[in-house]
Amino acid sequence: MDHFALKDGVMHAEDVPLPRIADEVGTPVYVYSRATLERHARVFAEGLAAVPDKLIAFAVKANPNLAVLKVLQRQGYGADCVSVGEMRRALAAGIAPEKIVFSGVGKTASELVAALEAGIGQFNIESEEEGVELAEIAAEMGLTAQCALRINPDVDAGTHDKISTGKADNKFGVPIDQAGQIFGKLAAAPSVNLRGVAVHIGSQLAELAPLEAAFLKLGELVKSLRGAGHTITHVDLGGGVGVPYRKGEITPAPADYGAMVARVTKDWGVSLIFEPGRVIAGNAGVLLTRVVRVKRGLNNPFVIVDAAMNDLARPALYGAYHHFEAVQPSGESMTANIVGPICETGDTFAMGRECDALSGGDLAVFRTAGAYGATMASSYNSRGFVAEVLVDGDRFAVVADRIDAGSIMDAERVPDWLA
Ligand code: LLP
Repeated sequence: MDHFALKDGVMHAEDVPLPRIADEVGTPVYVYSRATLERHARVFAEGLAAVPDKLIAFAVKANPNLAVLKVLQRQGYGADCVSVGEMRRALAAGIAPEKIVFSGVGKTASELVAALEAGIGQFNIESEEEGVELAEIAAEMGLTAQCALRINPDVDAGTHDKISTGKADNKFGVPIDQAGQIFGKLAAAPSVNLRGVAVHIGSQLAELAPLEAAFLKLGELVKSLRGAGHTITHVDLGGGVGVPYRKGEITPAPADYGAMVARVTKDWGVSLIFEPGRVIAGNAGVLLTRVVRVKRGLNNPFVIVDAAMNDLARPALYGAYHHFEAVQPSGESMTANIVGPICETGDTFAMGRECDALSGGDLAVFRTAGAYGATMASSYNSRGFVAEVLVDGDRFAVVADRIDAGSIMDAERVPDWLA
């Protein structure tokens, strides 16, 4: 459930009419709803009520906006970070270092140093090589790094290939049959405390079965590691729960996810970590855009909007569906190709889409843009970065300024020898 709905024929975010935001902030603009973020955070946590000892660490990559992180920090969430940039954001939002998990397949030495200095809660190491390097760095700093080893369980998440992470030939984690040997090797290093295992098999999962299959494998591994004398106190189950992008699409309910986790892990005797991203933020945001003009096409008209693939990359990258609707629907509909202004055919949000009738100057939204939206923006075609707004009841604030193409150009220079 989200808080974007028509009131008196005009789409509102909570109690704010979207045309007001368009007038004051301009378009395109990402609009997030605080009440929706809080609701999703609460429902996800309630789904896990039967799991006694846990940390829910929001996957910052899904939406790293500081105000969004602050909303989640106030809900008691920690942060799953994959770069020092994300870690700094989590800390700036007031998330305690102990509640920060550092994931990622290519952490650099300087990032490991920065995360050790910050005193983060757990490093999810993705290889023996990374563990050895972390041990050396921590030893030099006189610190002990709390770690889990990310396992690649070789489970097909059944999602888009580009966001599948748990198949044997994906770059993430280590094969499950090498875990024992890596634990054996790193156990000898006093500067790392390898205390658990981690898994994340992919994103936008429509079914719980692949997650359960991966968790069952992890449970077996925990047993065998303990059998070999290792102390296992933490297991990180990653993220991945899918969200509905289409009206009526069925995705796993947090309560069902929580019940499955509680059932599978009940005898593990560990503290569990979760890294949800999309399920918290996806439907808590829309991309508000204005129709530039409608152009006749061979089969369907082209609705050219002022948002483009640089602002919302998912359709171009993954062929992803984002529901598109008018802010002030007339009740009429049309079949249209919805495209942005960028000079490549990839800048297409939808072909032959049945949608509200629109003409030049009308406002419309792309739904489910709160996760992997603004965060994946680029400045392609020198278009600058979109502004972001957070709504709270009948008020709103700009939580990220629009960065215009001129400011980006200001960071560039022509060397003397070319002038
Ligand atoms: N933990 C790890 C280690 C991850 O790699 C990810 C996402 C998550 C947690 C959060 O997964 P979620 O709960 O959001 O599914 N840009 C793509 C999604 C990439 C996801 C990458 N990893 C998209 O727009 O669909």
